[in-house]
Amino acid sequence: MLVGVPLPPEPRSSALMQTLRWTIRPLPFMQDCRREYGENFSLRFLGFERPMVLISDPVAIKALYMERSHGLPPGRNLILEPILGSRSVLLLEGKEHLARRKLMLPPFHGERMRSYEATVEQAITAEIDSWPLDREFRIHTGMQAVTLEVILRAVFGVSAGPRLDRLRQMLSTVLSETSSPRAQLIGLATRRFRGGNALARFDKQLKAVDELLYAEIAEHRRKPDLPEREDILSVLMLSEFEDGSTMDDTELRDQLMTLLLAGHETTATALAWTFDLLLRHPAALSRLRDSLEAGEEDYLRATISESLRLRPVLPLAGRRLATELSVDGLTLPAGTDVSPAIWLTHTREDLYPEPFAFRPERFLEDSPDTYGWIPYGGGIRRCLGASFAEFEMRIVLREVLTRCDLHKADPRPEQTGRRNITLSPKDGTPVIVTARRPARERDIVAV
Ligand code: HEM
Repeated sequence: MLVGVPLPPEPRSSALMQTLRWTIRPLPFMQDCRREYGENFSLRFLGFERPMVLISDPVAIKALYMERSHGLPPGRNLILEPILGSRSVLLLEGKEHLARRKLMLPPFHGERMRSYEATVEQAITAEIDSWPLDREFRIHTGMQAVTLEVILRAVFGVSAGPRLDRLRQMLSTVLSETSSPRAQLIGLATRRFRGGNALARFDKQLKAVDELLYAEIAEHRRKPDLPEREDILSVLMLSEFEDGSTMDDTELRDQLMTLLLAGHETTATALAWTFDLLLRHPAALSRLRDSLEAGEEDYLRATISESLRLRPVLPLAGRRLATELSVDGLTLPAGTDVSPAIWLTHTREDLYPEPFAFRPERFLEDSPDTYGWIPYGGGIRRCLGASFAEFEMRIVLREVLTRCDLHKADPRPEQTGRRNITLSPKDGTPVIVTARRPARERDIVAV
């Protein structure tokens, strides 16, 4: 299908070398490619049959995301299916995908979303109270604890007991097992994270998580108040597809795992990057604090947009073309794997003057451009939890910045490292709290 059709230029190095550079130093690698080949280029990743074409022109990105019939490039399944399962909304395509999206979107928007405000406030209040004074710690770890707590409570409800404690611990373990670049390279080379002696332990841990999830599903099915419950598991259990069918236990497990993983690591990483940026830019930090004192949210929202622009958590959100893509002099045949290079799009000089400067002000007057600001991907697969993530981030940033005097332990910018599929601060953003004020009264509510 692709024979004879020239794709955009690619580096001359081997797939192994390109994968290594992509895994170990993704941003400099992408920047080098942009410098050498222009805004469209192709990369080869180990374990993939076809190259991936990277684009960064918003007009081309719009054309890519507007076409609903495109599928997913195999990378998403390759890396995520062993963990999320084959029924995950993140991995299904076509009608099956849309049917799941319809059921899973409502809890993450509007009033339903705002009902989680107290949950987020309680989680961040407890986290701040646990921080040491005058001693360095990694704020990324703290943010992971908060976002995991929030998503666990949203998914299972607040009354869950010891099983939730075990799940919390096991999920963190599974994530760290797959987080390092080494684990990812082995995963790519063996085409899956499972199998082989070196990774047998991971399989065992995943099984333990599955047992906990299935036990929670069984217990929910027995609950007499299921129709009145608002937690996402109860809602999904009772939701019907258009043909009247419901999700079976295997599918529920896959959707729960998807929400737990997609919903916590990403948000925690975005928060850690936001602290890294804010604490190195005192003028922006002070303006944000003043606006929070005045009860305003505009600068807070702009700060989050700017942080996600400069430090997008995910580098790619690609598609496999179902039909030819022809836009602005670029023609790619059906069957090509294409992805916006999110960070390259976000650092285009024509879209963002002084693209590498951290300036939340740029989003005060203009809200982010739909196809020039794409930290959540786009189109029919745009992140299902985007509103929820920003809602959560606003509460967390507000609480930390109004309650704590916070400093970076190391004034240098964090380097980009990898954790699972995310681009995360390599050292976890070490900080020091030098003063802590008590939580406002409304936060002190018994759970
Ligand atoms: C700052 C935090 C987050 C970032 C940067 C982020 C980013 C993304 C990206 C780039 C995609 C792929 C979109 C595409 O292919 O076009 C995605 C998909 C998804 N995200 Fe998020 N995400 C975040 C938080 C969340 C949260 C909090 C949840 C759930 C509560 C969530 C659930 C999902 C799901 C279920 C999908 C699959 C959507 C689909 O395929 O239809 N994400 N996210």
